[in-house]
Amino acid sequence: MAHYLGIDVGTSAVKAILVDDAQSAVAEADVPLKVSRPHDLWSEQDPDTWWAAVRSALDRLQAEAATALADIRGIGLSGQMHGAVLLDENDRPLRPAILWNDGRSFREAQELAEQHPELSQAMGVIPMPGFTAPKLAWLARHEPEVFRRVRKVMLPKDYIRFKLTGEIATEMSDAAGTWWLDEAKRDWSDAALAATGLTRDHMPRLVEGSQPSGTVLADVARHWGLRSDVIVAGGAGDAAAGAVGLGAIEDGSAFISLGTSGQLFVTTRDFSPAPEAVVHSFCHAVPGRWFQMAAMLNAASCLAWGAHVLKRDIGELLGETEATYSKPSSVLFLPYLAGERTPHNDPYARGVFFGLSPRTDQTDLVQAILEGVAFSFADAKQCLEQAGTPLAYAGMIGGGSRSVFWARIFASVLNVPMLRYQGSDKGPAFGAARLARLAVTGEEPQAVCTPPDVLATIEPDPRLVELYGPRIEAFRGLYRALKPEFMRL
Ligand code: XUL
Repeated sequence: MAHYLGIDVGTSAVKAILVDDAQSAVAEADVPLKVSRPHDLWSEQDPDTWWAAVRSALDRLQAEAATALADIRGIGLSGQMHGAVLLDENDRPLRPAILWNDGRSFREAQELAEQHPELSQAMGVIPMPGFTAPKLAWLARHEPEVFRRVRKVMLPKDYIRFKLTGEIATEMSDAAGTWWLDEAKRDWSDAALAATGLTRDHMPRLVEGSQPSGTVLADVARHWGLRSDVIVAGGAGDAAAGAVGLGAIEDGSAFISLGTSGQLFVTTRDFSPAPEAVVHSFCHAVPGRWFQMAAMLNAASCLAWGAHVLKRDIGELLGETEATYSKPSSVLFLPYLAGERTPHNDPYARGVFFGLSPRTDQTDLVQAILEGVAFSFADAKQCLEQAGTPLAYAGMIGGGSRSVFWARIFASVLNVPMLRYQGSDKGPAFGAARLARLAVTGEEPQAVCTPPDVLATIEPDPRLVELYGPRIEAFRGLYRALKPEFMRL
């Protein structure tokens, strides 16, 4: 029996999952990661901490499931998108990686938008500080000596590929989030690269996510007892890897992902850019597919933050809040702890509780957090509608999808049925394992990327839909009112 390994280089953890031929998980390992925020708006990680975490994950899998690990034919990589990993002439990182939720390059992103308005359509999105290109423009201005030494720019998961195979390569769905990829052509854009002082020589080689990118190095195979012919597939950025895991590779398949960040994701048959709606239109991880995505910087991370400051367990908080829930909270929560991308493109936005009274208690705050995140997805839904993609239903994946209560809130806020799936929290690592299998076997993506069993369909509650309408408007009004204050902060 063949086995496949999926590795997701997330922001809060590296997750590895070993799956068998029947696509069942045989073993899993999670290794936590820390983010460093040395200045306001900054968010960084040292690429070598990813590699150390991947090594620990492999050690654990070897301890737990040595026989299955020794049998893997392919490895798929998934990872946090957009991060700038900068290598010098000796292939060593020049500085910590600048991550997807780093807002420092706001000015450079605006300059790119002003100086190259024609590029947003081809790049599938307006330039925003989360993306890789504005980060390099920031580097050229603020750390010119580092910029001059940059030999290769890569994305987080591609650093792990380099460690595993020695190859400098990436794949379409992650390249898509750099703002250097011509999404329709599935090739680097010389014009976009030139706009940030780079050429295609600085870029990794491009493959499709379901194609091989290389074979594991002999040292790596020896160290973990792997076969010497293990293929490393292109893999995917975490958004597209999540889609592959959920089988969302056909036109119109839609889901929301509630991880550290949040996405509303819809697969499309064609490249359908809508940069004016702050929608991301990117290449999918399988050939001949694209997707439209509203990308939010704060999702389940808001609940984790709430539990952390309240010093409580998330499960207990959810249970207590559900027990008192009957209607929308009188408290509003703006979830923009790390700024926001869709729809505001505002790195300065911050979290807010609004409408506190002497009667406000813990459950009101937790409910407000759950609703605030759901309201930000109502904005996302509106953006996709503007981009010509109405939403009829949405699947749920990611850690936040474990809560049925949150799914009920989502159904009534978005006024669409929400689908909960078996094993939906396996996430991008599982999608990456599927891409590994495709790269090894050459099977049709449709044969492997099937949807998991639906556990439940949660319908909107008409009474709550009506009550949530004005609350969503109040939420939008609150952001509008505070926008200038965020700038001043
Ligand atoms: C998507 C995005 C995040 C990161 C982090 O555009 O920025 O989902 O990939 O996981």
